Amino acid sequence: MNARTKIIAGNWKMNKTVAEARSLVCELQGRLATFSGCDVVLCPPFTALASVAKLLESTPRIQLGAQNLHPAPKGAFTGEISASMLSDVGCRFVIVGHSERRRYFGETDAFLRDKLLAAVSAGLHPIFCVGEELADREAGRWPDHLRSQLQAVLHDLPPSILMEVVLAYEPVWAIGTGRTATPEQAQEAHAFLRQELERLHGNSVATGLRLQYGGSVTPENAREILAQPDVDGLLVGGASLEAGSFASIVLSVE
Ligand code: PGA
Repeated sequence: MNARTKIIAGNWKMNKTVAEARSLVCELQGRLATFSGCDVVLCPPFTALASVAKLLESTPRIQLGAQNLHPAPKGAFTGEISASMLSDVGCRFVIVGHSERRRYFGETDAFLRDKLLAAVSAGLHPIFCVGEELADREAGRWPDHLRSQLQAVLHDLPPSILMEVVLAYEPVWAIGTGRTATPEQAQEAHAFLRQELERLHGNSVATGLRLQYGGSVTPENAREILAQPDVDGLLVGGASLEAGSFASIVLSVE
């Protein structure tokens, strides 16, 4: 199996009021009206999900994602949102394990594994993020770090669950810093992740899963990163907040 349709996702983080979200979506729909070259996912904040979902009804090729979820199906978890609530509002994707969640909210591998399983049970595709800190990159320890993040969350999951996942390689030193991984660094890390997936889960998972790169992606660097053989898409933060830059990243998919 090698039908890895490219997938470009925009992670808006804690940005955009409902009105701002609506105007960004409308402008994107205009700019991407005739484009069908890849999957596009928008991940607005929770408060804008419902109104963005409504707008996306007219362009089903642009799909909705959330930035976070709680693993429990429901209950006394003040301030949290469950997987089924996300799918109820129209989400198809949800980001799990972003480095900002790991760093600022202390999310552990065990908690992320529960989130990933809850997402898949509710019919969502988790965009599961892994990536090393600068110190690990500089000391050459990035492969060990990626291996342990992968193993801790995915180790004994069956292919039926794994094939729902999009894996995002987001080196922490590249997120929001303007310091993008070079296309060679991105390819090397993606090839390593695929090799680890093959070792842990076999060839069909390794060759079938889509791997995204994230970290200071811009319209200027998107094309070259996407040209790498093991890069199947991009997870875009800052540059997804403006229609012109996000559309031009999407349009750089060949
Ligand atoms: P950035 O963020 O594109 O602003 O670096 C990427 C991300 O955090 O997903």
